Amino acid sequence: MAETLVELAAVAAECTRCELSKGRTNVVFGSGDRDARVMFIGEGPGEQEDLQGLPFVGRSGQLLTQLLGEIGLERDDVYIANVVKCRPPGNRDPRPDEIDACKGYLKEQLRLIDPVVVVTLGNFSSKLLLRTTTGITRLRGTAYPWWHRWLVPTFHPAAALRGNPKVLAAMREDLQRVADLLEQGPPEEEPTTATPGDESADDSDTEQLGLFG
Ligand code: URA
Repeated sequence: MAETLVELAAVAAECTRCELSKGRTNVVFGSGDRDARVMFIGEGPGEQEDLQGLPFVGRSGQLLTQLLGEIGLERDDVYIANVVKCRPPGNRDPRPDEIDACKGYLKEQLRLIDPVVVVTLGNFSSKLLLRTTTGITRLRGTAYPWWHRWLVPTFHPAAALRGNPKVLAAMREDLQRVADLLEQGPPEEEPTTATPGDESADDSDTEQLGLFG
């Protein structure tokens, strides 16, 4: 087990645990403050991210930076990562075996950074971390106690860039919720979602992804 994020990033930089390693230019491990109180989790690197080795540096990233600014945060104040660290070809969804091979990195990032709030960006990471088949439109709008933190699911910035003003408004609302939770601190009650050994949290579709199961 790595003791620091730097050590973990060095391990990830050499990773060949899945097929995605064959097509990558760079491993996109994550970026930002290693002591961040809020961590954003996207799906996987796109073309620009693969080329630069940094998450959310394309158009989606620009919008994310803008929305962060609206709640008084800069990119360096937060930590940004993805479920998978290497670009899936043609930006397809990561496959279960790829997620499985990569999930240890995300798990360790969460342990080492220990954020108060986790923001999942879009359907993919929201459904995976909350272990549900419910879509983002229904999931968002609330904060979930999750492993002694808050998890706030919101739309992926790419969805807002498609031009629906309601999506952008919803993202602003969700980020305001994040700002409020940072004031408030971690949840006091026990987590209700995906607790260790909690069979009731299982559902066959997502259990096989078992990110934290
Ligand atoms: N989309 C993602 O999910 N992650 C990135 O890093 C960039 C775009």
